[in-house]
Amino acid sequence: MLRVFPDLPSLTRSAADLFLERLGYTAETSPFRVALSGGETPEGFYRLLASDPFLHSIPWKKVQLFWGDERCVPSDDPRSNERMARRALIDHVPIPPTQVYPIRCEGSAREAARRYGRLLQSLFGLEGPSFDWVLLGLGEDGHTASLFPGSHTLLETTELALATEGGDPDLPRVTLTLPAINRSACVVFLVSGDAKAAALHAVLEGERDSTRWPAQHIRPQAGDLFWLVDEAAASRLDDLSSLTSQAAARGNS
Ligand code: 6PG
Repeated sequence: MLRVFPDLPSLTRSAADLFLERLGYTAETSPFRVALSGGETPEGFYRLLASDPFLHSIPWKKVQLFWGDERCVPSDDPRSNERMARRALIDHVPIPPTQVYPIRCEGSAREAARRYGRLLQSLFGLEGPSFDWVLLGLGEDGHTASLFPGSHTLLETTELALATEGGDPDLPRVTLTLPAINRSACVVFLVSGDAKAAALHAVLEGERDSTRWPAQHIRPQAGDLFWLVDEAAASRLDDLSSLTSQAAARGNS
């Protein structure tokens, strides 16, 4: 499902409305498990969830927060995805602290990835994670989470989290793997700005080359996939209606 919005604020508002809608799909007694994205684009979305009407409409006691990826820096480092989410969202909502599961990189990224994978296994059971909502961004090189072009992480079929490196900032990182993401009920990309236009065109309309364009690997097996983009990011897309039908055919519905 591709939706194009005039600008980032309208895209962000739609993402928050969708978040509330998806919460309604889960039973009152079930947790609503969310994997957060890092980078800059989602910050406005996090701030919106922490403000009215969302702040008092979201049943925060149901929500469990995870991360789709993390840079291996201290949690108070300005480059930390956890720090951004805490300052924009977590510190301002009544979510029980025990329901927030950051990726902590004490020691090596490899050790941190192993720990996080075991945590997901323990919480989601042997079936492996099935997040209710995975939030993703798109890098200018077509990466998503910390799944970078040509990376070994793209080949993983069983582990739920892996150590990797690269990106901007170029750091050791931990990322959810494709199996962990593609079992989700709902995956939502937020893509904004003309700097992303070439990557969005390549991912949605270009030749299928998911090693070069990792975001092409994101195809929930049984879940829904939403591309919420602004007009600047969509500026290189061809005829949107045909794209929507192509996306549906590819499973990028
Ligand atoms: C990270 C992010 C990364 C991000 C994209 C887009 O840790 O760097 O998870 O995957 O989503 O790079 O970043 P922006 O939204 O800031 O452009």
